[in-house]
Amino acid sequence: MNWYNANMIYTKTDFNHKTILITGGAGFIGSNLAFYFQENYPNSKIYIFDCFRSGATFSNGNLKSFGHYKNLIGFSGRVICGNINSKEDLAQISQIKFDYIFHQAAISDTRVYDQEIVMETNVNSFFWFIDKAIRDNSTLIYASSAATYGSMPSPQTIGIENPENPYGYSKYAMDQIANLYSKENPDLKIIGLRFFNVYGPREYFKNKTSSMVIQLGHQILNGNKPSLFEGSDKILRDFIFIDDVIQANIKACESKRNGVFNVGTGKPRSFQDICDILQNELGTNYKTNYFPNPYEGYQMHTEADIKLSRDNFDFNPNFSLEAGIKHYIPYIKSMLNIPLD
Ligand SMILES: NC(=O)c1ccc[n+]([C@@H]2O[C@H](COP(=O)([O-])OP(=O)(O)OC[C@H]3O[C@@H](n4cnc5c(N)ncnc54)[C@H](O)[C@@H]3O)[C@@H](O)[C@H]2O)c1
Repeated sequence: MNWYNANMIYTKTDFNHKTILITGGAGFIGSNLAFYFQENYPNSKIYIFDCFRSGATFSNGNLKSFGHYKNLIGFSGRVICGNINSKEDLAQISQIKFDYIFHQAAISDTRVYDQEIVMETNVNSFFWFIDKAIRDNSTLIYASSAATYGSMPSPQTIGIENPENPYGYSKYAMDQIANLYSKENPDLKIIGLRFFNVYGPREYFKNKTSSMVIQLGHQILNGNKPSLFEGSDKILRDFIFIDDVIQANIKACESKRNGVFNVGTGKPRSFQDICDILQNELGTNYKTNYFPNPYEGYQMHTEADIKLSRDNFDFNPNFSLEAGIKHYIPYIKSMLNIPLD
């Protein structure tokens, strides 16, 4: 199923006849990118490289990887099952010359605290993709994260970071490495995108790490009161709809310069807003069930400063939270009570 609007051409770049690698392509953002190219550039040659889920879990009980074949039903490109930590697996794609690499594969779960495995997966593997981009003269767009900011005050701005978990640090380290390689290799085109809180179709299989938009949507559709932390009208996040994240990835290919850039709306909204918009869309009027927030050091306010992204690649998010949720409802309904494994 195509979850997109028709008018999706963001730049003059013609991706037809280009060879494109999407790591993490069985996951949320990667699979949406794959469908974006398939729909809009049917003659592009798309490779997905993803280890898919095995059922193996981290010590927090969450899955080691969230890639799911159901995100790719309808995708007609090349799918390779492989681990970015394995040189042997990567050898399967080492002889293919890529014009573009969208590197999304990572441990995306911010609550994995095993530093060794997070650093190995997110950081060590990054060197291979940078080397590959240098060899192939490819444009490399990689996923960084707003987690690099920790609880730095809003608006979060490039250059003022303080990661507070191994995941956030791993993305921060990737940004430093990208910066070093960029200086040493003037021809390398490498752009990091710091995604804020992304929501939208194909995130369901992230299980408990999916956005609160789909989790609350399913609570309401199941006839339950939506559950939120106490004070949720004052907990603000920069929620960004997947279509705008795709826009950023595509436009970043034409960035005026290398660097790392924020990808958010710049307009923080509360978790209570999500509930209210969902209830409005779904025609319900449940009272919210509030419970104490168990987390210490919980981020209370995120807001992307997107000036640099605007100036360098004309990033211009189109979706308000209201519009994003409206577009998202059909997918939320379609995934109600679908098994998660
Ligand atoms: N979704 C968000 O809100 C958000 C916010 C900030 C940053 N990001 C980053 O964006 C990228 C994509 O995130 P997502 O939301 O699509 O997450 P996701 O977990 O749905 O996708 C990540 C994909 O990478 C794959 N993967 C994990 N480990 C792998 C390995 N060792 N080898 C090969 N493949 C592996 C998984 O199977 C999965 O399909 C990630 O790098 C994530 O850290 C996401």
